[in-house]
Amino acid sequence: MRKKILLPDGTVIRNMGIGTWYMGDLLSTRNEEIECIRYALDNGINLIDTAEMYGNGNSESLIGEAIRGYERKSLFIVSKVLPSNAGRNRIFKSCENTLKRLGTNYLDMYLLHWRGIISLDETIECMEELKASGKIKCWGVSNMDIDDMFEITHVAKGDQCQVNQVLYHLGSRGIEYSLKPFTDSRNIPTMAYCPLAQGGRLKDKLLRSKSVIKISEKYGISPIQVLLCFTLSQENMISIPKASKLKHMKENIQCLDIILDEEDIKLLNSEFSAPNKKIPLDIE
Ligand SMILES: NC(=O)c1ccc[n+]([C@@H]2O[C@H](COP(=O)([O-])OP(=O)(O)OC[C@H]3O[C@@H](n4cnc5c(N)ncnc54)[C@H](OP(=O)(O)O)[C@@H]3O)[C@@H](O)[C@H]2O)c1
Repeated sequence: MRKKILLPDGTVIRNMGIGTWYMGDLLSTRNEEIECIRYALDNGINLIDTAEMYGNGNSESLIGEAIRGYERKSLFIVSKVLPSNAGRNRIFKSCENTLKRLGTNYLDMYLLHWRGIISLDETIECMEELKASGKIKCWGVSNMDIDDMFEITHVAKGDQCQVNQVLYHLGSRGIEYSLKPFTDSRNIPTMAYCPLAQGGRLKDKLLRSKSVIKISEKYGISPIQVLLCFTLSQENMISIPKASKLKHMKENIQCLDIILDEEDIKLLNSEFSAPNKKIPLDIE
């Protein structure tokens, strides 16, 4: 299902992007990975998610190669700084290195990958300086649970946080209890990572479940595509599935044209309900 997502700063983005963890690590798969990214860019997807951590910069370098020739302003590039680099002494250099690998002079969004020992105030102050210098257009966070989000929205300039990127898929719906309602109330969209439960590896029973199979048969799609259709059906959420095989990328883009109806969602909810109490944020 196609949706437009409004960021707190007024920017509008689409509800699906390209995940790139583990891409760019092997020479043997490089060409197909580049082909996948370009296929997505040529077919209406413009958000690319990466991180300095992914292959120690390999993913950013691969993206740099894949986006050569594309108009920069047609793209929305998201990268992440490691918590250990998120202080005043390292973040500016980290950002510079990320830009160099990507072959660009700004990021559309820079995320704190997860919370470390550096204070949120310091990281946010630096993010705002990067914004003022034009190196990044906006910033957000990742892997933050409700207490962290509460803190972020209460520190100076914390209201500039544009997104929280967290794990979310049909078999892991803990964020629906209180985290997502809280960020939704602040108009902060959720960016769902592992929307395919890593191809089912994170919860293999998902792909064998009755409800998923029934819906996959109804629409003539695969069980994995049902997982993606489920996250794409959520409000205020951007899904960033990763596909390094062209066949997979095509199937994922096809999901944008499938609309799960109320009955489908009810069926999925009956087998994989959201928890009715707070559970710790899943990270895998
Ligand atoms: N912020 C964080 O801490 C964090 C953590 C994890 C991930 N992320 C981001 O989120 C992205 C997505 O998460 P993820 O890569 O871990 O997992 P994912 O997107 O849930 O799953 C990726 C796996 O699913 C396979 N796949 C993709 N499309 C498929 C299809 N149509 N049919 C069958 N299999 C398919 C891929 O295979 P092929 O690659 O072989 O096509 C790959 O093995 C990452 O790439 C990264 O950008 C962020």
